[in-house]
This record gives sequence, C-alpha cells and structure tokens, in this order.
Amino acid sequence: MAGITDRAYRTFLRQLGAPTVVTELISADSYVHGNKLTREMLTLTPEEGPCGIQIFGAIPNNMAEIAKIAEKNGAAFVDINFGCPVPKVTKSGAGSGALLNLVKMREVIRSVRQAVNIPLSIKSRLGWDSTHIVADQVSQIAHEEGVNWFVLHARTREQAYKGQNNWEYTEQLAQDSPCPIVGNGDIYSAEHANHILKHQKVSGIMIGRAALANPCIFAQMQNQDFVLPTIYELLLQFHDITLRATHEKVQAVRFKKCAIWMSYGKPHSHAFRSQLLQEAQTLGQALKLSLEYFQPEDRPTSPNDLTFLKGGHG
Ligand SMILES: Cc1cc2nc3c(=O)[nH]c(=O)nc-3n(C[C@H](O)[C@H](O)[C@H](O)COP(=O)(O)O)c2cc1C
Repeated sequence: MAGITDRAYRTFLRQLGAPTVVTELISADSYVHGNKLTREMLTLTPEEGPCGIQIFGAIPNNMAEIAKIAEKNGAAFVDINFGCPVPKVTKSGAGSGALLNLVKMREVIRSVRQAVNIPLSIKSRLGWDSTHIVADQVSQIAHEEGVNWFVLHARTREQAYKGQNNWEYTEQLAQDSPCPIVGNGDIYSAEHANHILKHQKVSGIMIGRAALANPCIFAQMQNQDFVLPTIYELLLQFHDITLRATHEKVQAVRFKKCAIWMSYGKPHSHAFRSQLLQEAQTLGQALKLSLEYFQPEDRPTSPNDLTFLKGGHG
C-alpha cells in the first residue's frame, strides 16, 4: 500500500503474524531511469520476508527489467498493479488504465512472466466502470500467460473506494476462473476474514485497511484466543523499528500515521489526530503525544467500517 507498507511497516506486520506482506507499488519507468529512491524501495531485508514486490508500468521492457531486479533482491513473488485508480498512473495505461486495453495488459504480463522464475501475481479491479466489467477476461488472460494468482479488489476504477466491495462477483469468479483468485476488499475483522475463507471458493485473501486499525488481525485469524498487546506496546515496537528502518526525514510522518490508525474508534480521536499532525515534528515527540493520548490498557480494535481511509493506489 503506497505511503504505508514501507520496510518498517512490513517488518512490524510480519512480527505481528502477517504470513506475507507486499511492498508499496513501485514504478518500472522510474527504476529504468535510475531513480535512487525507487532502487532503494526495491531492496528487502530477511526480517520482512516473505515479501512480494509490487510493480507498475505500461512499457513491457521496463516491466521486465524491474521484475528481474525484484527477483534478484529476494522477492517471494512479483505482483503487477493493474488496479491503481489514480489518474497520473492510469493515463499512461498503467494501473487500472490497463483495464481499457487488455491486449496491452497481456503484453505486459507476458514480458514479466518471461523475465522471472518466481511466482507472478496480478492485482486488479472489476473493470473501468460498471459498463465495462472485465475481471473474468483478465482472469482468462492471467491463466493463459502463466500468472500464479489474481488478487481482485471487487470495485470498478470509477468507484475508487465508494460503495461496497462486490463479494458475490468474487465468489462467482473464484468458481469459474482457471486462475486462482485471491479476494480483497472491505474485510474488517479476523472473524470476517475467516468467514470468507471458510465459505467462499477464493484461494486466499488479502487484507489492507483493517490491518492499519488492528495490525494484530493476522494473529487473531490464526488463534481466536490470541491476547492482544496494548497499544502502548505496539507503539513502542513500531517506534523501535521505525528508528532503524526508516529515513530520519520521514520517521515522524510514518509513525504519526500508525498512531492515528490505531486511534480509530477511540474517544476524542479526532482531536488527537489534529494535535499529533500539528505539534509532533520528530519521532520522539510523536511517540510522547501518542503515549499521552492512549490509556495504558487500550488495545487495538477492528473497525466497523473502513471509511477512515478512502484513497489509495489499488
Ligand atoms: C492509502 C492506500 C494505499 C494503497 N496503495 C496500494 C498500492 O500501492 N497497491 C495496491 O495494489 N493497492 C493499494 N491500495 C488498495 C488496497 O491494497 C486494497 O486493494 C483496498 O484498500 C481494498 O482492500 P481493503 O478494504 O482490505 O483495504 C491502497 C489503499 C489505500 C487505502
């Protein structure tokens, strides 16, 4: 998730029991142009693995190049983003822009498939808009081109994050598709996640926003009796990881986001959020203000709805 699953957050989630994590989306064109930050984003450490690297772009050769470096750097799999709804990405035909040109999408997939031996997945949406639902065709292409699984965020590009995720469509596609389908969208708790795994034909699920409010969701899925750590403990854990794994310039920003997500549903969270954003300039200040706001016995809670974050690159 862009702006979220950097090395520190991935490490945090892995320590808390996430079976697999994925990088932020990384631009193939920036990589080929030698962008330093992009190259850094493509490096992984053993403690965050197994980790997939998500790439995006519309130029097949560039996509092959970045996929090769992802494999060399130890990615567990390469994932192609065909879901990002942001105009800056879609106008070049990348992200969900690829849903408007499936011939081109196939070329990109083929080029990446030929470049790497590790598993290849794609992540996409239902289609561009409600008159243009093509996820079934995408799953066919994925199968023909040797994609190992297809993660479906069951909204259209036009919907962005509005409306409900279409789990009926996902279920039908999981039954019909020759390519394994991983369901994604609006999973809000461990019980909900386990219910979907038990009752739907999906081959797996992917959880985004719910893990931000409750990063222990993966541990809870695996063990109903899991004793949640306190938010104090989680903040201190994330603080230590941030200190060693994040550039000093962005440490405070990243930490503030994590504290704000965990304040979801807690009393006066709005005032806390404003205060934290305005007053905390350093990582230390952000930790101090957060520890003042939360109660020592506070624990993360799963959100009832996911409207607290309504934008993003997938
Ligand atoms: C802030 C934000 C950033 C995101 N960045 C990415 C991204 O880089 N790549 C991607 O495939 N999806 C991205 N997404 C979409 C999520 O992966 C996921 O498909 C979507 O949020 C629906 O799942 P959820 O309801 O479990 O969050 C992002 C979502 C948000 C809210």
